[in-house]
Amino acid sequence: MLIDFDEPINRINSNSIKWDAMEKLYGVSPKDGLAMWVADMDFKAPEAVNLCIKNMSEHGIHGYFGDDTGYKTALRSWMSKKHNWEIKDSWSAETHGLGAAIGISLRAYSKPGDEVIVFSPVYHSFARIIKANNRKVKEAKLQIENGIYKFDLDNLGKSLSGNEKIMLFCSPHNPGGRIWKKNELEDLVKFCEAHNLVLLCDEIHADLTYPNFKHNTLLAAVPSAKNRTVVMVSTTKPFNLSGGEMGSVIIPDPDLRNKFDLAHEATGKMPNRIGMKMAEAAYLYGEEWLFQLVNYLEKNKFCFEQGIKSIKGFESMPLQSTYLAWINFEKTGLSPTEFYRLLFKEAKIAANIGSSFGSGGEMYVRINFACRKAIVEDAIERLQNTFS
Ligand SMILES: Cc1ncc(COP(=O)(O)O)c(C=O)c1O
Repeated sequence: MLIDFDEPINRINSNSIKWDAMEKLYGVSPKDGLAMWVADMDFKAPEAVNLCIKNMSEHGIHGYFGDDTGYKTALRSWMSKKHNWEIKDSWSAETHGLGAAIGISLRAYSKPGDEVIVFSPVYHSFARIIKANNRKVKEAKLQIENGIYKFDLDNLGKSLSGNEKIMLFCSPHNPGGRIWKKNELEDLVKFCEAHNLVLLCDEIHADLTYPNFKHNTLLAAVPSAKNRTVVMVSTTKPFNLSGGEMGSVIIPDPDLRNKFDLAHEATGKMPNRIGMKMAEAAYLYGEEWLFQLVNYLEKNKFCFEQGIKSIKGFESMPLQSTYLAWINFEKTGLSPTEFYRLLFKEAKIAANIGSSFGSGGEMYVRINFACRKAIVEDAIERLQNTFS
């Protein structure tokens, strides 16, 4: 069945943070503006997921969740089939989203005052969660080589204070969509071994890779890292289920798993019934939908990147995964303040401010093109009219 990703769906007044908070956050009205910020998509979830919720609604009882065998089986076969990674059911814990999983991990593997390494610019909530847990953010600024990000472990090694306990790694990287190669992951693991760091690997964008690119899930690529690694995965990004707030933390090492479990226990760990059922249905029946989605997104990406090329001073980082364009506007000569004034007030596009992703993001904007192609074309026209 062909999925119609061009179907217009109004999200205004639907408790969507993307559309219903844009005016408050960016001063862009949803009436004549475009919501192209937070990472969720303007598409309906796979039919199987919606059917699953319909069945739950018809049953009508929404009590505590029990028996996660169905979900664990679905997760295990997805990891095996899609990522060549054989996991055991006992290795995973299910959390209320990966933001929560990161917070629990920080408490499990570090203490207040410890430093946590992140490769900036990176998903803004990393720093927020680290600081909210009274740990310190240690930014390792990404370098750009051949137009894409790479990390510089030599420099990072020289800058360590000795208080670093955790490396919080984003794979694929958000923003910029970089897929890390096996040899890069090996280097990273060696670095973590040399400095005795627990490696938290957030793979939430792993299933949104473009054709010609293959995500390397960390422990399939570097199995020897298993005694220091926690891998985090989720259906919420690829299948557009973010409101379901659930994800899995996969920890093969019993000692690390035990520590995670104690910290998880301290926050209350009863799974979210709706999230669990949505995720199970997505892993079991969502493969074809995801295939069509990625093909649709690739066309949007092409259209968006071509449009960006036509605007003097704009450069879009070539994306290997995900739908978050990362655009450098330095060569326009505009200051960030002036750039964002024009973006929000003239173009009326609500998009993520680059500096919120940390050092290195200052002259960038992140624009989410997971929407109808007609909206992507509209956005390009607005950008051309405002900035050309
Ligand atoms: C890298 C990364 N990790 C985690 C999250 C948030 O995950 P969750 O919604 O499961 O808390 C996002 C959301 O955009 C993300 O980009």
